[in-house]
Amino acid sequence: MKSTFTGIKSIEDFDLKDQRVFLRLDLNVPIKNGNITDTTRIDAALPTIKYALEHGAKLVVASHLGRPVSEADRAKYSMEPVADKLGKLLNCEVILVEEPESEAPKALLRGLKPKQFILLENLRFNKDETENGDSLTDAICEYTDIYINDAFGASHRAHSSIVGVPTKVPRHGIGFLMKKEIEMLDKVMQNPESPFAIILGGAKVSDKMGVIENIIDRVDTILVGGAMAYTFLAAQEVPVGNSRVEKDRIKYAHDLLERMKMRGKRMFLPVDHCVVAKLENTSEVTVTSDAAIGAGLLGVDIGPKTIELFRKEIMSAKTVFWNGPMGIFETPAYAKGTFAIAKMLSELKDATTIVGGGDSAAAIKASGFADKVTHISTGGGASLEFLQGDKLPGVEALRDRKA
Ligand code: 3PG
Repeated sequence: MKSTFTGIKSIEDFDLKDQRVFLRLDLNVPIKNGNITDTTRIDAALPTIKYALEHGAKLVVASHLGRPVSEADRAKYSMEPVADKLGKLLNCEVILVEEPESEAPKALLRGLKPKQFILLENLRFNKDETENGDSLTDAICEYTDIYINDAFGASHRAHSSIVGVPTKVPRHGIGFLMKKEIEMLDKVMQNPESPFAIILGGAKVSDKMGVIENIIDRVDTILVGGAMAYTFLAAQEVPVGNSRVEKDRIKYAHDLLERMKMRGKRMFLPVDHCVVAKLENTSEVTVTSDAAIGAGLLGVDIGPKTIELFRKEIMSAKTVFWNGPMGIFETPAYAKGTFAIAKMLSELKDATTIVGGGDSAAAIKASGFADKVTHISTGGGASLEFLQGDKLPGVEALRDRKA
């Protein structure tokens, strides 16, 4: 299988000295009352920013933040807190430019001094960004000598700053975060050391079907938790009470269980659950004696027997990919199963442990074991699309077709 990197240059392939470098990052961080509540994406972007500055680039950094829909959203989705944070972390002056289509970036770039760089205001304030419109693309191209994409988390979006600009700027490549993300996910896809276990959770079977189908030949064991497990149990006619079931996926779940069996692969579903009568009854959690959930109850987490069952499988694996929490982990009373999985991954020796982005990344951080796994993807949607075998538009836009 061809490496995803074939025909793609890296930032290290260019002489950056005095070049105007446009660096697209995914700085889409959670912000509450003007404060950044999780800096993971900022921290992950620092190596490429530092490299560009140390190698004499005249740097323009840009990102989207949230999904603003109107002018009224400008204050809520401003990059100002991000500019502050970057300035502090890098000990640099970060010049926030309101309008990427104005003369300001060009003028500022001419006078830029060491330890200064430009950060464009939220690209999605301009509708051309999501529509991949020429006006924004052409404006950015006017002040870009070299384009670098280090925005893995946004590379599944065919937007102006992800696809439009690199298509028009001939010198383009990836940064260090993109390199690491792709290396890690390629490893899972192309060369996983066996036994290879994947742990899938979260709300919906439908979100994970693409990944399951693409990985089924390579994986040895699939462990299913979270709400999606109830659909698999319903497919085996196990009662699941009031738990969430995707009725239109029951047939798929049934067929998948059969296919796994026929291929000699192992698939494990919960054998017990933490249940409540109502989601808000957090102090009334009970544990079922087996996989069945009684009438009027709903599952909120995997139970202790399931944790032990999953532990046996996980602790003998050499490659583990985890995507999706085992329960409603944001509520402490329903977080035991998810945090137990995080702990198991942290205890695995000599194994590659990769956590998909989004909820599972948030879960492993909340568990306190984030620094004990091989890789946590910064991309939720992007990592899922990659693992289901889709080509990411942001990666393809950088590929030299002659390679
Ligand atoms: C993410 O948070 O997954 C990325 O930043 C992409 O954001 P989007 O889903 O709003 O395009």
